[in-house]
Amino acid sequence: MHFSSWTPLVVSLLTISTTAIPILEVRKNGGGGGGGGGGNTATRGGPASAKVTLYSQYTCAAPNTPPPTDGSAGTNVTFSVTEAQCTIPTTGLQYGGALTASLTATPKTGTVGCYIVGHSQQGCGIVLSNVMYGWPVGGTSVGSSLGCGNPPSGTSWSAFEIICQ
Ligand SMILES: *[C@@H]1O[C@H](CO)[C@@H](O)[C@H](O)[C@H]1NC(C)=O
Repeated sequence: MHFSSWTPLVVSLLTISTTAIPILEVRKNGGGGGGGGGGNTATRGGPASAKVTLYSQYTCAAPNTPPPTDGSAGTNVTFSVTEAQCTIPTTGLQYGGALTASLTATPKTGTVGCYIVGHSQQGCGIVLSNVMYGWPVGGTSVGSSLGCGNPPSGTSWSAFEIICQ
């Protein structure tokens, strides 16, 4: 179903040293695959997910300092993102707004990290008009967070996903 449209994105992200078939395994994130061989035989987690909150009007104080939740950061919308799924929130992220996120499920063992990724077009499609922008999450454990991120100017961000690699 959705994997066919995701494959080119994954290939472009991970072209460095692998071929399309193992990359698809990484994207599916369903166990198997293992880690780096040797000692660690336990495979943990995946697909990763995160709770994301968008704020309409806030300039981050620091990457680890979340926006205030008393309404002074404007209106907010909260939703979940899961690996290999595209989430379209009721309200997107505009320039001048901010986002925060917290991992609710871990990526599989061996994953270096995750990004919360915003797409300019709804649907996360790989089309010429769609660009993406990512904010790193500060760890791979449940509760690891993106404290506060601001989007660049010039567009707005209508769809979101989490990419771990
Ligand atoms: C969202 O906005 C409402 C209304 O201002 C506020 O009560 C709530 O705490 C906010 N939630 C977050 C997560 O900031």
